[in-house]
Amino acid sequence: EPGLAVYDPGFTNTASTRSSVTFIDGDKGILEYRGYPIEQLAEKSTFLEVAYLLIHGELPTKEQHDQWVHEITFHTFVHENVKSLMQGFRYDAHPMGMLLSSVGALSTFYPEARNISDPAVRHEQVVRMIAKMPTLGAWSFRHAQGKPYVYPDNDLSYTENFLSMLFKMSEPKYDPDPRLAKALDVLLILHADHEQNCSTNAVRSVGSSQVDPYSAVSAGIAALYGPLHGGANEAVLKMLKRIGSKENIPAFIEGVKNGDEKLMGFGHRVYKNYDPRATIIKKACDDVFEVTGVNPLLEIAQELEKIALEDEYFVKRKLYPNVDFYSGLIYEALQFPPEMFTVLFAIGRTPGWLAQWSELVDDKEQKIARPKQIYTGDRRLEFVPAAERW
Ligand code: SDX
Repeated sequence: EPGLAVYDPGFTNTASTRSSVTFIDGDKGILEYRGYPIEQLAEKSTFLEVAYLLIHGELPTKEQHDQWVHEITFHTFVHENVKSLMQGFRYDAHPMGMLLSSVGALSTFYPEARNISDPAVRHEQVVRMIAKMPTLGAWSFRHAQGKPYVYPDNDLSYTENFLSMLFKMSEPKYDPDPRLAKALDVLLILHADHEQNCSTNAVRSVGSSQVDPYSAVSAGIAALYGPLHGGANEAVLKMLKRIGSKENIPAFIEGVKNGDEKLMGFGHRVYKNYDPRATIIKKACDDVFEVTGVNPLLEIAQELEKIALEDEYFVKRKLYPNVDFYSGLIYEALQFPPEMFTVLFAIGRTPGWLAQWSELVDDKEQKIARPKQIYTGDRRLEFVPAAERW
């Protein structure tokens, strides 16, 4: 019809969004946080320093960094009532469902968080959320295992503390392998932000109503829970286990071509080249497997990638491994069960969600999200009362 907007199935919530947080060139496989290439940050920075960069827009001075780490370290505890709320879940509750609910619940424990126009109030909620995500994530893991929740140990670094809350048993102090803590730190850096992805879009859309940041971030966690987004890393492991051996790969590939399967961990709405994060994660695999032993599924993943990158079906569609293709292999080697993989993604993405949310709140031109609609239904029908219709 004249004037009907061209329907774009990729058009979701808002039109194009202005942002200076993350730059992606999908054709060249480039990813930069506040202008810094992801390869340099993954190699030389730490997750908390990258979180500071994303939130504040520049790298911290030593004083700023030390203050930032101090504040986050001393906000890792969670109100005991939130712990009780988590203990009310079924024994087999998915950790993402628990994380989604407990982050949303935090909005009721900090009512001042609704005062989003006050930078000091915003800063305090940003610190609280970055600090508490590992605690909530670890407790959802312990819950699923029927083990007692482990409280934060503030003598440890951010990732060491997370590993302690996940795996500490009867030993007086958990002593994580520094190589595994470092690998986890790199993985969190790689997941820290990614421009206007589905979950960030959810945070921005919900945040545009000027709700508190806990409620906006819980919307992002809900979006990330989906198998096409953050849930893909869990789906990749299940796919590799289902394939079972290299000999079964050709039959699986045929299933993908017939539309019966999706090659999980492949493809991307923006990257039409290799996802730079997948390249870095592949390298991190070697570091982790030195400590844990090689994940037997690695050779299936490598063979699958090799075949797919040479197959016309995938080449024509520009389908390359994305961030989720190899991350699950590391998580499994670190003794995480598949349902925890997306929780790790959420912990990593928290600074990105908060940086994008802060940018949105600061943007005085930002209006409430209200997507355009292309109406395709009937018009001006004559209503016939039920008594005459039946
Ligand atoms: C993340 O947006 C972000 O930035 C997300 C993320 C982040 O950091 O936030 O990078 C994290 O979500 C990574 C993606 C994780 N998801 C998966 O690995 C699930 C498998 N991937 C696909 O479902 C898919 O690739 C998407 C959802 C990621 C992208 O979907 P699109 O935009 O529809 O893909 P496309 O338009 O490029 O598809 C082109 C063609 C289509 O086939 P035709 O209709 O042309 O015949 O390729 C096909 C698609 O059906 N295709 C796939 C495929 N991905 C796309 N076919 C088989 N297996 C796949 N994985």
